Amino acid sequence: MSSQGRSATSSSAHLTAVRHSRFTRNKRGPLVVQAAKARVESNAVVGAGTQLLSLVSLEKSPPEYLPGHVLSLSVVGKDGRSARKPYTVSRVPKAGQIQLLYRVIPEGNATPLLSALQEGDFVDYEGKFHTPIIEELSDCSKVIGIATGSGIGPLLGFAERFLPKEKFFGKRPVKLFAGFRSENDICLHREMNQLRKRYPGMFEWKASLTRPPAGWSGLEGRVTSSLPKMLSQETDLRRTHFHLVGNGAMIKTMQAGLLGAGLSEKQVTTEAFFNFQSQPDTIVVARIIEELSAAVNEQI
Ligand SMILES: Cc1cc2nc3c(=O)[nH]c(=O)nc-3n(C[C@H](O)[C@H](O)[C@H](O)COP(=O)(O)OP(=O)(O)OC[C@H]3O[C@@H](n4cnc5c(N)ncnc54)[C@H](O)[C@@H]3O)c2cc1C
Ligand SMILES: NC(=O)c1ccc[n+]([C@@H]2O[C@H](COP(=O)([O-])OP(=O)(O)OC[C@H]3O[C@@H](n4cnc5c(N)ncnc54)[C@H](OP(=O)(O)O)[C@@H]3O)[C@@H](O)[C@H]2O)c1
Repeated sequence: MSSQGRSATSSSAHLTAVRHSRFTRNKRGPLVVQAAKARVESNAVVGAGTQLLSLVSLEKSPPEYLPGHVLSLSVVGKDGRSARKPYTVSRVPKAGQIQLLYRVIPEGNATPLLSALQEGDFVDYEGKFHTPIIEELSDCSKVIGIATGSGIGPLLGFAERFLPKEKFFGKRPVKLFAGFRSENDICLHREMNQLRKRYPGMFEWKASLTRPPAGWSGLEGRVTSSLPKMLSQETDLRRTHFHLVGNGAMIKTMQAGLLGAGLSEKQVTTEAFFNFQSQPDTIVVARIIEELSAAVNEQI
């Protein structure tokens, strides 16, 4: 799906839009929307305020879920309160098993209910919506994923799923960058470290912290500020696909910067979780363009 395809006004409006828009049609097949039930297998805390919900579909022959597909999840609390929100499939360990990474918003409607789910509970869902990341890729030699917060989930799931499939995916390196506020917020780092170990030279990841602890030696600042200089050192930028996931404000700014530096629209795809109406931060965009455009244009 093109980068323009995922904007919406709010998540409920977004769900309605999801149901009725052309984006409900998977590129390689017909619309797949069905009401289904899943059993909660686990609901682990994987970072401060971030949980990984592992679901097993109760469908007899569940369709193939891939990282980047979106499910509309309904959850009912013990007190009868209910909420329905969209969540992006992060990891798919095996057929019918789906993992969703979510940030717990204490004042939110859905996530306090989600965070209370326990093994053996049930949820209803509809889907699958959207296009999985693998089908978003342009003709590229490398994939760079940039996330804020829980946006790292689908990017990790994508890397885990496709790096082993060399015959299908080719030898295309995947690099992931994720912006978090504090060190405690970093999540799925063990899984990413394992992947780096298993695929040396083919998988890399880095966190960028906006409130780093004393002695932090990694990237500092928002990804929109900490990454451009580093990205300018990348080879083959003209054949690099960027997929941006998470806060719509980060996405709008990073996307405008990458396009302004000379990358093509099809090279930059996005998945916003919130802040859909944000406008690019023009000062940050100008800085991204300044830092990246020479590298992009030299590589024509
Ligand atoms: C297509 C799509 C896919 C999504 N996939 C995911 C996903 O995989 N994981 C996930 O955590 N969320 C995801 N979201 C967001 C999700 O649908 C909910 O909005 C979110 O879980 C908060 O729900 P809530 O009812 O608890 O709080 P809400 O009342 O909906 O949100 C309160 C506020 O919290 C902030 N917020 C919302 N979501 C996040 C977030 N993820 N991280 C940080 N701040 C946030 C926003 O400022 C929002 O206004 C997705 C949204 C869309 C549209
Ligand atoms: N942190 C916790 O321990 C915790 C625990 C439980 C629940 N929560 C809930 O989770 C909610 C959301 O978490 P969060 O605010 O940490 O969000 P998040 O989506 O997890 O990401 C935060 C990171 O994104 C960065 N960011 C924000 N806007 C950006 C932009 N325009 N461009 C680039 N980067 C940007 C932030 O930088 P800045 O720091 O500069 O904003 C921060 O580094 C909180 O409101 C809270 O209710 C948090």
